[in-house]
Amino acid sequence: MTKFINQMEPWFDEREEQALSEYMKGGGWVTEFQKTRDFEKMIANYTGARYCSVVSNGTISLTLALIAAGVQTGDEVIVPDYTMVATPNAVKLTGADVVFVDIEESSLCMDFNKMKEAVTPRTRAVILVTINGRYPSSLESFVQFCKERNIILIEDAAQSLGSFNGGKHLGTFGDIGSFSFSAPKVITTGQGGALITDNEEMFEKIIKLRDFGREKPGADHYLTMGWNFKFTDIQAVIGIEQMEKLAWRVQRKKEIYAFYKDLLSSFSGISFISTNLTDTSPWFVDVLVNDGSDHKQALINYLKDKNIGSRPFYPALHSEPVYSRSGRYPVAEKIAQQGLWLPSSSKLTNQEIEYICESIKYFFNS
Ligand SMILES: Cc1ncc(COP(=O)(O)O)c(C=O)c1O
Repeated sequence: MTKFINQMEPWFDEREEQALSEYMKGGGWVTEFQKTRDFEKMIANYTGARYCSVVSNGTISLTLALIAAGVQTGDEVIVPDYTMVATPNAVKLTGADVVFVDIEESSLCMDFNKMKEAVTPRTRAVILVTINGRYPSSLESFVQFCKERNIILIEDAAQSLGSFNGGKHLGTFGDIGSFSFSAPKVITTGQGGALITDNEEMFEKIIKLRDFGREKPGADHYLTMGWNFKFTDIQAVIGIEQMEKLAWRVQRKKEIYAFYKDLLSSFSGISFISTNLTDTSPWFVDVLVNDGSDHKQALINYLKDKNIGSRPFYPALHSEPVYSRSGRYPVAEKIAQQGLWLPSSSKLTNQEIEYICESIKYFFNS
């Protein structure tokens, strides 16, 4: 194979091209307007949420969720140690303190018992990351615990569009759910984020926060503090077309994951994280390289020589220079050492997957 296989790539076809061309010919104002409202409706319908607000990106959507929940300086927000850095960084934007909690090995999501131990009188919110479309073994316990303690539960579902738990979309279990539409995501609008909630009061706050605190769009009467975290109709035109492809993409993501697993699961160098493909549409094909980080880096280099892109998991965030926290996070540390994302674009062909798996086996056998 000569063409480089990217670990992930967005894809569009003539539908996005035509829709954009028609929109531009129609004299749209390009900033957020009717197309953005239509895109929001599609996300609300698909996820089953009452309200959806689309914003500039998935970091800002988390930040707005926290601000709308009243999180501020002096509060603590609990986040998993294994996630994309945007999760804790959104907390920092509000002035609150980040508290890292280890993950569970079975789902790579936050460990419920360890979360309980980390709660203090200052805990205002928990951000549960449904990482790679998976949910923790005790999702209901998170919901119940947070409700009883009056702690806001935010689901960072940036990687979970198309993933469910027993028929209910991820992001709809807590008070508010957040998505990202950055380039590698399940669907993309270049940049973009969305918030979903059933809570009308929270939604009303968010739509003001994203639009300078205005009473209503275009009216220069400012009810609350707010900024400009708006979307654009140009992006929404693309997003609407991407949503039309979502059902197919979700199905293909599941097929791709199952095919990799078929080809590699009896093979001792690599292991898979338990995945319920009825519920989870794996955003990325994530595997663990059993011998740890040196071996993993050698595999990454080898695959690159074979024109195959791959990417190591996120580091355990407490240990990154920006946070430099001490403490024990054994699962996040182990996962960060072993974890590798294999090519995962929904465009990937079965022939390419066979080639990737053969290359991996060859690496381990030689
Ligand atoms: C779990 C998680 N949270 C938040 C984000 C941030 O989203 P964005 O890149 O749209 O700001 C990402 C994006 O990669 C993510 O994976």
